[in-house]
Amino acid sequence: LIAALSPKPLAGVSMLITAGPTFEAIDPVRGITNLSSGKMGFAIARAAREAGAAVTLIAGPVHLPTPRGVARIDVRSAQQMHDAVMPAAAQHDVFVATAAVADWRPANLSAHKIKKAGKKVAPSFELTENADILAAVAALPEPPYCVGFAAESEKLAQHAREKLLRKKVPLIVGNLGPATFGRDDNALLLVDADGERALPEDGRATDKLSLARALVGDIARRLAG
Ligand code: CTP
Ligand code: CA
Repeated sequence: LIAALSPKPLAGVSMLITAGPTFEAIDPVRGITNLSSGKMGFAIARAAREAGAAVTLIAGPVHLPTPRGVARIDVRSAQQMHDAVMPAAAQHDVFVATAAVADWRPANLSAHKIKKAGKKVAPSFELTENADILAAVAALPEPPYCVGFAAESEKLAQHAREKLLRKKVPLIVGNLGPATFGRDDNALLLVDADGERALPEDGRATDKLSLARALVGDIARRLAG
C-alpha cells in the first residue's frame, strides 16, 4: 500500500547497474578478487525499482538476494561483465557502475590446477589490463546517463573529479573505502561538473538503503532537470 501511494520519480526509466567484485581466474580452482560486497549496488537496484524504474542488475560473485522485481544477470570475470553490459547499455536510460571491476587479470589461464610439487620457486603471474566498462559505455554514440563510483582511501574529491574527467561521465559518486567494503553504513560524495555535495548532507555514515534511496532521488532530479 505504501509503495502504491508513494511517488514514482523513475516511472518509465530503465536503469542498468553493475555490482559486486569480479573474479579473475588463475587456474580452475584459484583466482584474484576483491572485498566488494555488492551491497551498495543491490541497494541502488532495490531503490530504483521502488522508484518505478525497470532495473537490470549485472552482478559479480556475491551472496545477496535479488531485489524484488529486478532482472539479474550473474557474471564472474570483468570480461564477462563487459560482454553482458555492452549490448544492454544501449537499451537503458541510466547506467550506474558500482562494481569493483578487477583492473587486471592473469595474462594466461592455466587449464589445470597449478601444482606445488616439484616447484623450487613460487610461481609468478603476468597480468593484463581489463577493459574499462564505464568508460566504454560513456563512449557509446548515444550513451545512457552514466554514474560512476570511486572508492578511495585518500583525497576522495580529487580522485573522484579526476575519474569524472577521465571517464567522461556526468556524475561520480565517491566513498572512502575499504573501510566501507561489506559494511552496511556508508557516506557518499557526489562530484559533477558544478561541484561537490555530501550525501547525507552532514557527511555522517548512514545505512546503504537510505543512501541508495537518496542517490536515486538525486539521479531522478538530474534526469528531469
Ligand atoms: N570501472 C569499470 N570497469 C573497470 C574499472 C572500473 O566499469 N575495468 C568503473 C567502476 O565500476 C566505477 C568506476 O569505473 O564506477 C571507477 O572505478 P575505479 O576502480 O575507482 O577506477 P579506476 O579507473 O579503475 O582507477 P583506480 O582503480 O586506479 O583508482
Ligand atoms: Ca580500479
